[in-house]
Amino acid sequence: MAFEKEIATRRTFAVIAHPDAGKTTLTEKLLLYGGAIQTAGAVKSNKIKKSTTSDFMEIEKQRGISVATSVMTFYYKDKMVNILDTPGHKDFAEDTYRTLTAVDSVILVIDNAKVVEEQTEKLMEVCRMRDTPVIIFVNKVDRDGVDPFDILDELEQKLNIDVQPLAWPIGMGPHFKGVYNLYDRSLNLFQPGSTKVETENITITDLADKTLDQYLPKEANQLREDVELIEGVYNQFDVQKYLAGQLAPVFFGSAINNFGVKELLDAFIRIAPQPLPRDTNVRKIEPTEDKFSGFVFKIHANIDPNHRNRIAFLRVCSGEFERGRFYNHVRLDKKMRFNNPASFMADSKNIVEEAYAGDVIGLYDSGTFKIGDTITEGENYNFKGMPSFSPEIFKELVNKDPMKTKQLNKGIHQLTDEGVAQLFTQEINNAKIVGTVGELQFEVIQYRLKNEYGASCSFQPVNFYKACWITSQNEEVFNRFLKAKKPYLAKDKDDNYVFLASSEWILKLTREEYPEIEFHFTSEFKNRKKV
Ligand code: G4P
Repeated sequence: MAFEKEIATRRTFAVIAHPDAGKTTLTEKLLLYGGAIQTAGAVKSNKIKKSTTSDFMEIEKQRGISVATSVMTFYYKDKMVNILDTPGHKDFAEDTYRTLTAVDSVILVIDNAKVVEEQTEKLMEVCRMRDTPVIIFVNKVDRDGVDPFDILDELEQKLNIDVQPLAWPIGMGPHFKGVYNLYDRSLNLFQPGSTKVETENITITDLADKTLDQYLPKEANQLREDVELIEGVYNQFDVQKYLAGQLAPVFFGSAINNFGVKELLDAFIRIAPQPLPRDTNVRKIEPTEDKFSGFVFKIHANIDPNHRNRIAFLRVCSGEFERGRFYNHVRLDKKMRFNNPASFMADSKNIVEEAYAGDVIGLYDSGTFKIGDTITEGENYNFKGMPSFSPEIFKELVNKDPMKTKQLNKGIHQLTDEGVAQLFTQEINNAKIVGTVGELQFEVIQYRLKNEYGASCSFQPVNFYKACWITSQNEEVFNRFLKAKKPYLAKDKDDNYVFLASSEWILKLTREEYPEIEFHFTSEFKNRKKV
């Protein structure tokens, strides 16, 4: 098939990191290598700085930027590289988790002084749910940091994955001299502040070679010792283990100094997977199948009331997408065609004529899409792997203007379809509980309900700690549970029962009291039996 060749060139991935580790800086440097941008600074950081979390205009500005940088495409060594952007702010973590369902691999950026941070652990958990292959880039080696051997230990222990260095730093901080590439046995010496895209590598196949001492008069012996140790501990790098999500290769460098980035990109191109097969509720879909399929993983609303359109971002999973053809919206069982599918790059927006598995396209939408929706050429199935995670903050939505109840309901349903937050309706009093991962979302919801739907609301704190989706094989026990726990029960938008636990302790006690009830922390669970 003609498009098999197209698909084989795609490398679709995301750069992920705890805020401030250097995700934006690294992404920009990757784009420079790919020729997608010409100067540093062309990609603005899409993160909302901590100090401005309550500045709504700032959020809006960021939202605009994040559309422009949603998918960044460039060609490098005959491969078409698609970088999917993820929001930097932790309150938008759920957006990041969803974007991770649309990639085939990730590059995880670590700050060499902070190593594994809170968000790093969460992001890795999400990667492990799908066995996503991970490459780790330890950034900021131009600054003093944790000893590289200790970094490897911490990564392995806290991220629960085997790691193997493929590049090794020579010194750190003010004594940083460069990186020894363990994969092709070459030396790359550091020149601070270099903006050169091409760096010169010195091949040293035998570290005993005296030329090493010429380049590194003080550090050569330490490097020899380190490499001997590393080679004693690690076997030959096993690409299959990386592709299975069990082994993460580690690179060291300094994104801001454009150092170690080329090694990273070259290794990425060499080992990162092409578009992978994806599971649906019916069967596995191979990217090279001749029928088109894809799913929506992100919806971006234009909040300007004069332009109320939305853009649904669709990951193509198989076959070839063609502009203007009729496709099937599985959930709505509706034929749809898209006349202006778009690709986005920095400030430009282009109409896409065709797209292949691995690509991401933007579809203009007036409210027909929900996160997770599947589009096919006719077959009925739904892509899996789009779970909602238990939110961390819960508040009750209070209607401040009863004349606008209809608008409020419509608004909150549409916003939650977009994935801004999750909505649970309590069994006992039909109260609407909004769950988010960050405080910022409540501001966004309040503002958007007013601005786009003309509805006024406020939020009242409620004392819930976690939302767990519940199932049971035992119908009698399940019904008994529903009766006993009514004040703590709610339904999600798909009518699944959710237990709202007030505290970790209550959750523990409840689980002990009802061993036959299964408590799930994401909305997608295996062997789900609706009772
Ligand atoms: P993020 O997207 O992961 O949140 O991180 P970002 O790239 O914005 O980088 C966070 C900070 O770390 C920035 O400094 C950036 O300049 C710095 N940084 C990135 N890479 C390196 C590196 O290799 N070495 C050193 N020493 N610093 C690095 P900032 O002061 O927060 O912002 P800015 O004013 O420099 O933009």
